[in-house]
Amino acid sequence: MILVHARCFPYRPKAGAPNLNYLKPELFSWNDRYREAPAPVEPCQILTQFSHLIPDAGRALDLACGGGRNTVFLAQHGLRAIGIDLSRKALEQGRELARQRKVIVDWVQADLESFSFPPATFDVIVCTYFRDPKLYAPIRESLRPGGLLFYETFSREHLRFNIGPKNPVHVLEPAELLLVFADWRVMFYRERWIDRGIAALIARKPAVQGSRQL
Ligand SMILES: C[S@@+](CC[C@H](N)C(=O)[O-])C[C@H]1O[C@@H](n2cnc3c(N)ncnc32)[C@H](O)[C@@H]1O
Repeated sequence: MILVHARCFPYRPKAGAPNLNYLKPELFSWNDRYREAPAPVEPCQILTQFSHLIPDAGRALDLACGGGRNTVFLAQHGLRAIGIDLSRKALEQGRELARQRKVIVDWVQADLESFSFPPATFDVIVCTYFRDPKLYAPIRESLRPGGLLFYETFSREHLRFNIGPKNPVHVLEPAELLLVFADWRVMFYRERWIDRGIAALIARKPAVQGSRQL
């Protein structure tokens, strides 16, 4: 495991977590992809369109952040942002983007499968274009009561198109996000089928567990 830079929260791998540099073939393929085509730099629409919902202080976590387009956007918004990704190459691009945009971001190279999420720590969690249902429980745990989740990624509808993920494991089932976060206050939900298949959700964790009210 490599901790690229941590400023505002201690990064801890789960006990007994394997060394990702030796065991993750995905690491090499993602590094290659980022070498061939640099990561996009403009933030996802779910953040720009709903930026009025984002608090201007607090902690934000961007899961599988890639080249950090969303992490940097959150930092520009005033949040102490952490971007986590498996790919060192992606994080290098994120660092450069943060430098250009003159913001400080914490970049952590880690495998999310062996990442130990701190409980009730983040005011905002973002996950875009990455799906792993095993993350839902730690996301729920790691967001502070009243905190916001922004999630957007490919849905099963996308398998009809020629670009993007081909493996059904990497795409959302119909209404998946809506069902997983049904007990939170869902502020926005959309499934799109034209041009590509994408689902997007914004949900607020209840201030009191089990309550939909803030
Ligand atoms: C399609 S990119 C999305 C990047 C970013 N969220 C965005 O929207 O620009 C998927 C990212 O997931 C990362 N990734 C894949 N498996 C991972 C894992 N197990 N742990 C952490 N990151 C992972 C890849 O390195 C890649 O940067």
